[in-house]
Amino acid sequence: CGIVGYLGTHQAAPLLLEGLGRLEHRGYDSAGVAVLGPSGIKVAKRAGRVRDLSEGLPKRFAGKAGIGHTRWATHGPANDVNAHPHTDGKDRVAVVHNGIIDNAAALREELHEAGISLVSDTDTEVLAHLVAGSDADTLERKVAEALGRIEGTYGIAVMHVDFPDRIVVARNGSPLIIGVGDKEMHVASDLAALVRYTTTVAHLDDGEMATITASGFTTYRLEATGLAATNRRAKTLDVDPDAYDAGEHESFMHKEILEQPAAAERVMRGRLNDRFATGHLGGLNLDARELRAIRRVKVLGCGSAYYVGEMGATLIEELARIPASAEAASEFRYRNPIIEPDTLYVAVSQSGETIDTLLAVQEIRRKGGRVIGLVNVVGSAIAREVDGGIYLHAGPEVAVASTKALTNMFLGFAMLALQLGRVRDLSIADGRRLIAGLNALPGKIEQVLATEERLEAIAERLAAAESLFFVGRVRGFPVAREGAQKFKEISYRHAEAYQTSELKHGPLALISPAVPTVAIVPDDELVERNVAALHEIAARGGPLVVVTHDDVELQGLDAERVVVPRTERELDPILLTIPLQLLAYHAAKHLGHDIDKPRNLAKSVTVE
Ligand code: G6P
Repeated sequence: CGIVGYLGTHQAAPLLLEGLGRLEHRGYDSAGVAVLGPSGIKVAKRAGRVRDLSEGLPKRFAGKAGIGHTRWATHGPANDVNAHPHTDGKDRVAVVHNGIIDNAAALREELHEAGISLVSDTDTEVLAHLVAGSDADTLERKVAEALGRIEGTYGIAVMHVDFPDRIVVARNGSPLIIGVGDKEMHVASDLAALVRYTTTVAHLDDGEMATITASGFTTYRLEATGLAATNRRAKTLDVDPDAYDAGEHESFMHKEILEQPAAAERVMRGRLNDRFATGHLGGLNLDARELRAIRRVKVLGCGSAYYVGEMGATLIEELARIPASAEAASEFRYRNPIIEPDTLYVAVSQSGETIDTLLAVQEIRRKGGRVIGLVNVVGSAIAREVDGGIYLHAGPEVAVASTKALTNMFLGFAMLALQLGRVRDLSIADGRRLIAGLNALPGKIEQVLATEERLEAIAERLAAAESLFFVGRVRGFPVAREGAQKFKEISYRHAEAYQTSELKHGPLALISPAVPTVAIVPDDELVERNVAALHEIAARGGPLVVVTHDDVELQGLDAERVVVPRTERELDPILLTIPLQLLAYHAAKHLGHDIDKPRNLAKSVTVE
């Protein structure tokens, strides 16, 4: 979900709507604004997109203070009533909230017994009533009192008719940023909503609150004794507001796919040491002795970050010869994992906010494990929580389907694997070979992107199928998983990843002329076995698209061939992944879907 707020000299509604448009990738099933003007608080909210909300709204909504929200439904379906802002029923208090209130059911019951009727199914509505029902004398104390009653995570912004000069915000597990303008102040849960207005910002910490007035802000912390000032100051960030726009591109996803060569160069800049043939990752905060002491690597992430984690684990095993594996962060935490002091835990996240990954990091650290992060968003929750890490420098990624961040995650793993390998058994010659391979990758990614037209034609044919397989083995299997993920999330076709070797143990039963298979077949040790398995598919009439290298002998296989440039074998997965992004993209485009905002999903999932 996304939060915005404004207080200043301009009309709030148009600014709030503009900001919400920029946060829409965070949740887009409903949206709303509350504006505080001469006639009190007015709320407009509805299921659907920000543009549905916008029509006709700014003129009716006079007022120079307001808050807004774009939602990804958790408690209750996406309808007008469940959309934020929520009020106390009398439009005296309005609240927008990201996160989850764990004890909402008990609080709802309590309010109900006190004769207060709640109109929505949400957890947030109780907050509005708790603030309205507080006897405290200031809005800050009312909000503090309400927050004292709730358990859970939140980023909130609150307005109250009796305190029209201010907005009170608070953070616990869900980001909140204050933007300082000229005689005006902004609030947002994401920098994307602010950069057009100001790059002078203050990030709140967990447990912190702030009061925003038109002339400035003050921060404080909720403590048992009351509110203690934290005196946070705003800092001016070096960000390019244009990076947050799609510009001439028809979608953010397409823009971000094309940005990959440049993004790949950025993540490697200054991090490869040719002389010692190793990675040079200063942010790890691990010296050679500590790197050598690592006996195992465990990678944690969600969605695409999890699949690239599998690619990374394979790379680490190959180059450093230490056991490495990846697991979905959400699952890891709930099986009471054994945390070992000589394991290096790696949390992978574009946003640095995904709650499942963040909670896994906290669990590991609580038990004494050492965690590093592969994170794109600087200063995000995971980046702040870990012992060290590798910033991905992919630039802002807006499309829900991750592309350039994922590529940079892979490269982050490659540099980490190199560094771990070079304090062990990996030779100088192999180190140099890999560095040369890495340096050549941006140009090779460019070559794959140049085949877009052909991929588009193939994608259109694949889009006609209701169901598809993506198959690969060893290095190629996580590629298949990521390919299937991309395809299903934006084309809404059923796409299932399988190990090529496992097909004959079950899924072959599903193969038919109506079910195409996209096979990942690098020219590696497994190529002959892979090709043999593909013949088994062809023999059952299954159409085939084979993503492979040139000159790979397909033994007369009836298949559509997609060729990627050769690189070092260990680095093959990333070049094999790029065409799958374009296949998914063009299938979704052909089907007329909203590519950047696939149904039911959100860019960052900050609830469990
Ligand atoms: C969501 C998105 C996925 C993404 C995952 C992890 O589920 O829909 O595309 O891969 O979160 O996000 P993160 O920000 O942690 O990389």
